[in-house]
Amino acid sequence: MADRQFEGKVAIVTGGASGIGYACSATLARGGARVVIADIDEEVGTRAVSDLKLEGGELMFARTDVGLPEDVEALVDTAMRSYGRLDIAVNNAGIGGESAPVGDYTLDGWRRVININLNSVFYCMHYEIPRMLESGGGSIVNMASILGSVGFANSSAYVAAKHGELGLTKSAALEYAKQGIRVNSVGPGFIMTPLIEKAMDEATRAAISNLHAMGRMGEPQEVAELVAFLCSDKASFMTGGYYLVDGGYTAQ
Ligand code: NAI
Repeated sequence: MADRQFEGKVAIVTGGASGIGYACSATLARGGARVVIADIDEEVGTRAVSDLKLEGGELMFARTDVGLPEDVEALVDTAMRSYGRLDIAVNNAGIGGESAPVGDYTLDGWRRVININLNSVFYCMHYEIPRMLESGGGSIVNMASILGSVGFANSSAYVAAKHGELGLTKSAALEYAKQGIRVNSVGPGFIMTPLIEKAMDEATRAAISNLHAMGRMGEPQEVAELVAFLCSDKASFMTGGYYLVDGGYTAQ
């Protein structure tokens, strides 16, 4: 029988329609959580909800642009109105952005990546935390990257946003540790999702695979397993951490 460790809990997963976010939504729903999939892509998001409902999950879709604070506030209100509480948040939505050295990176491109990959995590926690406190505590997982701790040429905005996300995670963890809210971040290596498929040709994918000690990229479910653990009560003494799931990328 499936482990229903999230029975009675309510979760928000941003960017939950696709890739890593979809795997996290599915894993939480299969564990018994009621899940709000928040995504800018309404078509893919509603399909994700329908597919997971067919498996017996309880989920809903909320169209949200995480780069807009008013959208994030409305998302959290929707979750509270629909399900009455908030226990888990996976702040995962993100974009890759331009590939260019700093001197050529556009100013608009910089602002867009910082807004969607970093400001959004602040907006999410800003609106989620008061509702989690009302619900008696909770667990937040922010989706960083290996590029939260090492650089990567031609991706300055992405790398800066992910490094910033780690600092934001640690500060929020310290602020709420005694009030029952745990805040952690996760650092995946390169994971086979639409974000990567769109950004790389076959040769680049082979080269990137070889940067991981295991010689391959990861699968979304391999990240979702770690996220689910951090969301669960099994991780009750873990907060302010940054946990890698990177096939040995950063060990070399
Ligand atoms: P993906 O492109 O498969 O999924 C991202 C989801 O976020 C999509 O459903 C998209 O519609 C949604 N989204 C994009 N902009 C949004 C916005 N403004 N508001 C709401 N939703 C929005 O990407 P993937 O690979 O699953 O990435 C998810 C997270 O994991 C991102 O934060 C990414 O930086 C991070 N990550 C991904 C890695 C990879 O190799 N795929 C490696 C390390 C971290």
